[in-house]
Amino acid sequence: MIEYRSLRVALLGGGTVGANVARRLIDHADELAARVGAHIDLIGVAVRDVKATRSPAIPAHLLTTDAESLILGADIVIEVMGGIEPARTYITAALQSGADVVTANKALLANHGTELFALAERVGAQLYYEAAVAGAIPIIRPLRDSLAGDNVTRIMGIVNGTTNFILDRMDTDGSTFDEALAVATELGYAEADPTADVDGFDAAQKAAILAGLAFHTTIDLSSVHREGIRGVSGEVIALASKAGYAVKLLAIAERLDNPADGIDGVSVRVYPALIPRTHPLAAVRGANNAVFVEAEGAGSLMFYGAGAGGPETASAVLGDLVSASRRHVIGGPGLAESTHANLAMLPVSAITTSYHVTLEVADEPGVLASVAKVFADHSVSVELVEQGLFTSEGSAASKGQTATLVIGTHRAKESDLAATVADLAKLKAVTSVTSVLRIEGA
Ligand code: NAP
Ligand code: HSE
Repeated sequence: MIEYRSLRVALLGGGTVGANVARRLIDHADELAARVGAHIDLIGVAVRDVKATRSPAIPAHLLTTDAESLILGADIVIEVMGGIEPARTYITAALQSGADVVTANKALLANHGTELFALAERVGAQLYYEAAVAGAIPIIRPLRDSLAGDNVTRIMGIVNGTTNFILDRMDTDGSTFDEALAVATELGYAEADPTADVDGFDAAQKAAILAGLAFHTTIDLSSVHREGIRGVSGEVIALASKAGYAVKLLAIAERLDNPADGIDGVSVRVYPALIPRTHPLAAVRGANNAVFVEAEGAGSLMFYGAGAGGPETASAVLGDLVSASRRHVIGGPGLAESTHANLAMLPVSAITTSYHVTLEVADEPGVLASVAKVFADHSVSVELVEQGLFTSEGSAASKGQTATLVIGTHRAKESDLAATVADLAKLKAVTSVTSVLRIEGA
């Protein structure tokens, strides 16, 4: 029997993720000790309410509301509470005490990562966060380590499990938005406030973290363009499906360098987009996530798996915990964040892509010509026009005095498309601009 030294681990949070971290730590204690070369001793679990009903995976005697004391006695602190405060204060205290920290908290890292990484570097501690982006999928280490000698050019991913689950349910079984969100919440995918998921905040935070790593740049979260999925109705999804597309909430981080247009920097953006059914991202179902990475040398890489859920996220947390523990046993300086490139953040108007614009128009002669002229006036080239084909009922009928018009464009500048849409909305014959969706991956 090998006698191992002990590493004292404090767990902040005993909810969906925390309970699963505790379960693995306790159930696999011997195996983890053998892998690390030290016994990982869970010394306590900080929660808000020790009397609340919770998973039996956490022994009751480990529960405490005194997070500060717990942190001071720990070699490694795992933060799975979520939110900005008190998580920020606790992580700061943990790093200042010399502990390494493992966190799944993308909201905190996207808003305060710069200060926390700087503190960690100053005190010689490490801040691990594999679980903060795309749940169980290893994506932080590949970007930080495996691709450290390459140049990443583009990242495109589905990084929010809740919204993918909702869009998938609306697409495949006709669930309403509210029904699908309720199931996602029940399954533990959604954030405490699901607004963070459906309005794209969570995906924007993850996009910022990925972009910072990929482009060695400090990403200002307020410069990440963000659109959520509230505007994606069942009808929009049905239209997309009939046209051969799936609707996915995408997080895109892209290096743009076009001197002719004075564009040189990074575009980071989150929006619902059309993906051809033949594209691998269209096949990402349920709460799964997938991240495409394009790099100069490596070419295209795809990382796929569970993006949310207690056991799945706990797996990523445990991976970081083993890394942190090994560092305690073996020593070594760890890794600092790299932000030397400091590229400019570009507005969404700098991008170029193709679009589907859906209009409700008066069903009368000359309307098509007037609509086409608006596109031409802004140098947006039309690729296809479908009239009356796409209705939620699947009929080819127009709706009374109006008809549905779907216009697909060739690649165009976002700024030109925006001007086109603004002018379309002013046309007398256009009753409403029902949706404007970008096409990605075509
Ligand atoms: P959760 O189920 O809401 O659990 C949060 C836990 O933190 C609860 O045990 C809660 O205590 C405790 N807590 C909250 N505020 C506290 C405070 N002020 N003091 C002490 N304890 C406090 O959250 P979760 O789903 O496990 O998520 C945790 C973190 O992981 C978040 O940052 C989230 O974004 C991230 N994450 C979650 C998933 C997922 O699928 N759930 C996936 C990836 C990343 P009580 O139990 O007493 O209320
Ligand atoms: N609410 C998040 C999601 C959890 O749905 O992806 C994982 O970060």
